[in-house]
Amino acid sequence: MRPHDTVIYQIDPRLFRDANGHGWGTLDGITEKLDYLAWLGATVIWLLPFYRSGDRDGGYDVVDHCAIDPRLGDEASFDRLVRAAERRGLRVVTELVMQHTSDRHPWFQAAQRDRKSPYRDYYIWRDQPEADGSKPIFPPIESGVWRWDAIAGQYYRHRFYAHEPDLELATPQVREEARRIMRHWLDRGVAGFRVDAIPYMVERAARADPEDGGRWLLREMNAEARRARSDPVLIGEADIAAGEYGTYLDDGRRLTHVLDFHLNNHLFLVLARQDASELARTLAEYGEDAPAARRVAWLRNNDELDLEQLSPEERKEVMDAFAPEPWMQLYHRGIRRRLAPMLDGDPQRISMTHALLFSLGQIPVLRFGDEIGVGDELEFPERESGRTPMQWHAGTHAGFTDGPAPWRKPIAGGRYGYERLNVRAQRQQNDSLLSRIRRLLHARRHCEALSQAPRIVDVGNRAVFAALFEHNGSRLLALVNVSADAQRIALPGGSGDFQVELASDVDFPDPASARLSAYGYAWLSA
Ligand code: NOJ
Repeated sequence: MRPHDTVIYQIDPRLFRDANGHGWGTLDGITEKLDYLAWLGATVIWLLPFYRSGDRDGGYDVVDHCAIDPRLGDEASFDRLVRAAERRGLRVVTELVMQHTSDRHPWFQAAQRDRKSPYRDYYIWRDQPEADGSKPIFPPIESGVWRWDAIAGQYYRHRFYAHEPDLELATPQVREEARRIMRHWLDRGVAGFRVDAIPYMVERAARADPEDGGRWLLREMNAEARRARSDPVLIGEADIAAGEYGTYLDDGRRLTHVLDFHLNNHLFLVLARQDASELARTLAEYGEDAPAARRVAWLRNNDELDLEQLSPEERKEVMDAFAPEPWMQLYHRGIRRRLAPMLDGDPQRISMTHALLFSLGQIPVLRFGDEIGVGDELEFPERESGRTPMQWHAGTHAGFTDGPAPWRKPIAGGRYGYERLNVRAQRQQNDSLLSRIRRLLHARRHCEALSQAPRIVDVGNRAVFAALFEHNGSRLLALVNVSADAQRIALPGGSGDFQVELASDVDFPDPASARLSAYGYAWLSA
């Protein structure tokens, strides 16, 4: 995956498009929309869980890792999706959730019932809760990481919800199950996986063998993936300090990519302050062993905007700017709003944040719906606020389903309602958010220099992010004004050197003007 021509598009299969009118999004529904995704400029589809699950954690509470939730499709529809994607040059990445299972998983149920079952060692049991300082991931919903199980007669450990017991990766059979599950999906043509909750998996592996702090587990998984494909993708979810990314990558011999929480958090700090100067420090914090091409970054995803990579003071700045009310916040650390409402639904401001995301050298992810500015439903619990159906057109149920009863209704009425805000309407407008983001993605494809590490340049204005990319003798200058005011800048090396590749403003025809409008952006080449 090369950063300048890779765009990962994250889809929740339950919410994208229902192809058979029964009210749930389906895999065939995604196949129906592949032309749209190719038109937009996506090159990789990241599918959120579509497995049989307990339905209590967006599908991450898996009950059978190799079985497709019958509401969403079957093996044939999965094959159709992968083949149709391939024909359009799109790759499919699926979820590998091996840190925990649902408590309804047959492994757990067998483990509960019989201390001598081979499945007992798949999970972590204790007679008394272990006091090792481990904190629950979802406070205050969960108050601890141990739960008494009356059937098993012991406590089991769960970092996430109590209905998601942790798998014991120190047990060799559990690691073999992980490899078996990987083979299952790789054989069906997936390009690789987004691997859930990596540090917690590694922590357990270290119990079996402390070498590399347990990161040998990733090497084992990587080798398995390489047996099936020469260029597999293993994108790890690891909400850790930037300086540690390299140890999880080992030049692609462990994970091939890491999800870049550090950048995600600092982008919001920059937006909150309307001051881009922070980015120089942010980018300096990665080691050389975590190059931009191995980092995957996003603005919003399927979860809360988890701000743990910021200091308490910085987090407060972001909260004050984007989630001032308690009901907009979650788990004492994050924001449960979607991108568009946080940015006042302003297409110029939202496209500017995308221009910034695309101007940092790493591989970007778009969450489905963010390209049109879908809103949120804050009355839904926890992270469900940001999980509403895709808005395709202004007709019944936003085109999410043609049937009578969507399992979840699309946002209706008002500024973010599907009647006004939808793909069809925005495709027809040249200055819609969708058209702007598409222009950025298509321009980016031709700017190979954007795959290189950016070098921040001083344009004499803290409100403007400016970075120079150099590649094969060509140069690209990315300029992004993160502030609500027009800004003057001093172009490096003289303005006559540059031509406009892409600009947000029609009045940016001449780089010599050296002025960016409010939330303006431009890519200039030389
Ligand atoms: C990360 C997923 O993105 C999140 O939605 C889920 O709750 C946790 N992993 C646990 O699987």
